[in-house]
Amino acid sequence: MGIWFLWYVKVFYDKMRGDLKDYFVSVSSKYDELRGKEILPPLCERLKRLTKKGSRALDVACGTGLFLIPIATEFDLRLFGSDLSSGMLETAHKKARNDNLRVSFLRADVHNLPFPDEYFDVLISTNAIHHFDLIRSLKECARVLRKGGSYIVFSRFREQNNRSFWGKNFPKFADKENRLYNKEEFEDAAKKVEEFNLDSINESSFEKKATKEEILVEVTNKKYSTFDLYSDEEFEESLKSFKNWLNGKRDICYTAEIGEIIYRKV
Ligand SMILES: C[S@@+](CC[C@H](N)C(=O)[O-])C[C@H]1O[C@@H](n2cnc3c(N)ncnc32)[C@H](O)[C@@H]1O
Repeated sequence: MGIWFLWYVKVFYDKMRGDLKDYFVSVSSKYDELRGKEILPPLCERLKRLTKKGSRALDVACGTGLFLIPIATEFDLRLFGSDLSSGMLETAHKKARNDNLRVSFLRADVHNLPFPDEYFDVLISTNAIHHFDLIRSLKECARVLRKGGSYIVFSRFREQNNRSFWGKNFPKFADKENRLYNKEEFEDAAKKVEEFNLDSINESSFEKKATKEEILVEVTNKKYSTFDLYSDEEFEESLKSFKNWLNGKRDICYTAEIGEIIYRKV
């Protein structure tokens, strides 16, 4: 009876926060298996350049800590991770505890961060900024960042997504994903948010290879939240035609691209 009661309270609590409907709650336990970590080396490289021992760093929308956990292993920083999804944070917290890592996690909306002004030396955000209001989130990130501090962002540009493996081959994927920002929007944002200068904006690419089975695991587990933007019927129909397309193929080799933006607080 005790355990069922606790479970019921948890379900009720999550529902109250609108969290049960959250795509990220459902994907959190398998997220790490579905996602690649190709951006970890360039991210670490930037952190090496922009931090020193004991710097205070926040991973905004850290998710399951896919990048924050390896960073905590490699760097001697005072690390924080924030995210809106309790499911993703729970996974991140568990990983940090298992590895005996000191990271402070908290549930927070990026548009309203519960930190004092100029608290951090560096902020990072990977694969998440398309979920934010670009200008409002940049203003809030600038508030919690010290002068001279950097905000390192990794995000697919909209144009990269359109020409990606999924954008070209999965029906409606490019049209459905209307949240990603394009390169110009990141550049313009630095003009609109006077607290930030655009330090650099770059693009890089990675060669990827997967079997047909692996590709199907990714899509049926909804690797990207884009798949959650389809209605059930639309998704089934698109999956059916994607499977037909995949049928005639052997292993899949493709190029994945990513954008990297660094804003510096003036
Ligand atoms: C695709 S995941 C990326 C997670 C992690 N940064 C990574 O690279 O694996 C996007 C994350 O953004 C979080 N998120 C979306 N909107 C948010 C907001 N307004 N404030 C904070 N986190 C948000 C989601 O909960 C999710 O964990």
